[in-house]
Amino acid sequence: MSQRTWARAFAPATVGNVICGFDVFGLALERPGDEVVARLRDEPGVVVTRVTGDDNRIPLQADRNTAGVAAQVLLARISSRQGIALEVHKGLPLSGGLGGSAASAVAAVIAVDCLLDAGVARETLLHCAAAGERIGAGAAHLDNAAPALYGGLVLVRPGDPPDLVQLPVPDGMACAVVHPHIEIETRNARRILGDSVPLANAVIQWSNTAALVAGLFRQDWDLISRALVDVVAEPLRSPLVPGFQAVKDAALHAGALGCGLSGSGPSMFALCRNLEIAERVGAAMQKAFADAASLPSEAYVSIVNRRGAKVREIGGW
Ligand code: HSE
Repeated sequence: MSQRTWARAFAPATVGNVICGFDVFGLALERPGDEVVARLRDEPGVVVTRVTGDDNRIPLQADRNTAGVAAQVLLARISSRQGIALEVHKGLPLSGGLGGSAASAVAAVIAVDCLLDAGVARETLLHCAAAGERIGAGAAHLDNAAPALYGGLVLVRPGDPPDLVQLPVPDGMACAVVHPHIEIETRNARRILGDSVPLANAVIQWSNTAALVAGLFRQDWDLISRALVDVVAEPLRSPLVPGFQAVKDAALHAGALGCGLSGSGPSMFALCRNLEIAERVGAAMQKAFADAASLPSEAYVSIVNRRGAKVREIGGW
């Protein structure tokens, strides 16, 4: 192949917060995810030619589209006037709490970087994806984009540049994520949090974030389990999810280490010691959504995806 003319990239679903680490922890799932195909075009600039899997709800205008903006920022960053056409294939639900905006933005920058054989540093790709996500989610917290790009369970310490730390994932650790068929817009779920936290809750929360990190390093399942408590966002956001308490109780009863919202919800996330438990937990959570709130749902059971976004196919002549 002498010249690449298109590239297709995948970026996975992610669980923001990992219950106790609001805006600072995120982990990647094996599936589902979004795909973006990037193609060379003659005219300069970025166009979005097609979006699938969105019921025609995502804007095609590049500067209003998370993938389009991320690609625009990347081209500007590398001073390229190459024209790019993007196709976005949504595998992630809209406003589902699975990091859909971040996945589209990350898949776009991975596809464009590969198409142009640009070899851009991952930190720069993350910066570009974050600009795209800001369009979709209203804020550029990196707890979805960083694990979507790098994989694993990532600690994000905000800063310029941010510190990104891959936390150890004990062998076998698995997740059950259940997406009920309702939507919560992240920007609204952030607005209801207000801008202050009572000191006593802050103490509980930062002790839990520290304890989760220590538990992961020590592979101490009991400490991990005790750390998976959110006293900051969950009390304010959980009323938005019908059946929340029943689903959480069902997950814990079925053997989860902890259970809470995935990102800003409505999806709910349970961390488990192994895949077998996670399968059982996912089924129990789905049943609880159906019984307690008459909500149909999808369950995604997966180990932590350690690889993150990837190029799936390259074409050319
Ligand atoms: N940390 C973000 C929030 C994640 O909870 O608002 C959104 O997916």
